[in-house]
Amino acid sequence: MTVAYEYRPGLEGVPATQSSISYVDGQRGILEYQGIRIDNLAKYSSFLETAYLLIWGELPTQGELDSFEYEIRYHRRLKYRIRDMMKCFPESGHPMDSLQACAAALGLFYSRRALDDPAYIRAAVVRLLAKIPTMVAAFQLMRKGNDPIQPRDDLDYSANFLYMLTEREPDELAAKIFDVCLILHAEHTINASTFSAMVTASTLTDPYAVIASAVGTLAGPLHGGASEEVIVMLEEIGSVENVRPFVEKCIERKARIMGFGHRVYKVKDPRATILQALAEKLFEKFGQDIYYDIAIELEKVVAEKLGHRGIYPNVDFYSGLVYRKLRIPTDLYTPMFAIARVAGWLAHWKEQLEENRIFRPTQIYTGLHDHPYIPIEKRM
Ligand code: ACO
Repeated sequence: MTVAYEYRPGLEGVPATQSSISYVDGQRGILEYQGIRIDNLAKYSSFLETAYLLIWGELPTQGELDSFEYEIRYHRRLKYRIRDMMKCFPESGHPMDSLQACAAALGLFYSRRALDDPAYIRAAVVRLLAKIPTMVAAFQLMRKGNDPIQPRDDLDYSANFLYMLTEREPDELAAKIFDVCLILHAEHTINASTFSAMVTASTLTDPYAVIASAVGTLAGPLHGGASEEVIVMLEEIGSVENVRPFVEKCIERKARIMGFGHRVYKVKDPRATILQALAEKLFEKFGQDIYYDIAIELEKVVAEKLGHRGIYPNVDFYSGLVYRKLRIPTDLYTPMFAIARVAGWLAHWKEQLEENRIFRPTQIYTGLHDHPYIPIEKRM
């Protein structure tokens, strides 16, 4: 029997899994994690509480959260061999490549694969959530020629990361805002990097390989890399007056305007709305920024010209502005995304293991059949 398959480029609209982790309504601009609206999590939760929610399916009690935070604090340090390995990385390398290599290298130390043991799952979750920020901060200090600094047990997850990155205890508002950024980026249904994590997970390999493959996928400019490109684009535009001609030129040349458009959202991404408010708070405290004015004008002009096609700001549009104000180097924006998204990837890894079948889609063959083998001396 011949089965007719409809080819959908990019698998648009093709359900590849069933999941209860998160939900997006792209027409109404709604995002929920385990049924809880993202706005409420951004307002009331912390990143680690949200990670727990995503991975174990419900909000932790105070005792459960305390133990989870304690375990993560305990595992934040890197093995000296990982730090030694990082010393061999070129300073000019992209931090996402460093992160991918370090995440994969964890598999060398924790190679036991007891995927049906809840204690093994929890240890892997804790290790990855704990160590990924330390890996990002260590690469940043090492490429400047400094030694990485040790995590501080008196600082919470986000404050400690900013401390390890900048070697200074962060401002309280800055740390709080960074924590909210992590919540907003923690999960987003079956996007490219999550799909990549799930495909890798479905082979029953170790969780470090799962996260390494997701990091590699996130790095591309059409996915996590867009927030870096947004800042480059805003710098290139340079002034509010240049915005309109820039947009018109992009439309004429069919060029992408970075930080706009989304496969699922056809209205403004709810995370972009929350991030915009956070950016405003930061500007109020730490001073105005010309790039914010350019961004506001850009949003207005793009809505006017492309809004009818459902092209509005996505999460990456304002996240770059927030990170810039927090003095995070531009090429670390995607690693910031990875620090957050590891929670979602781990949630999908765990869900995949609960009802696993290896991914093995089909293809529509467009090549030749019975083609002759031509000896090399006769080839033109
Ligand atoms: N600027 C200008 N035109 C756009 C944009 C944009 N940012 N996004 C989509 N379009 C246009 C396309 O040119 C295309 O037009 P056409 O039909 O005339 O060829 C149409 O809208 C549909 O575009 P697709 O690429 O088919 O849409 P898709 O759903 O595959 O892509 C994507 C979504 C990749 C996010 C796209 O909007 C894009 O490239 N945006 C810019 C990069 C970006 O901001 N990425 C971050 C996404 S969020 C995240 O990953 C966390």
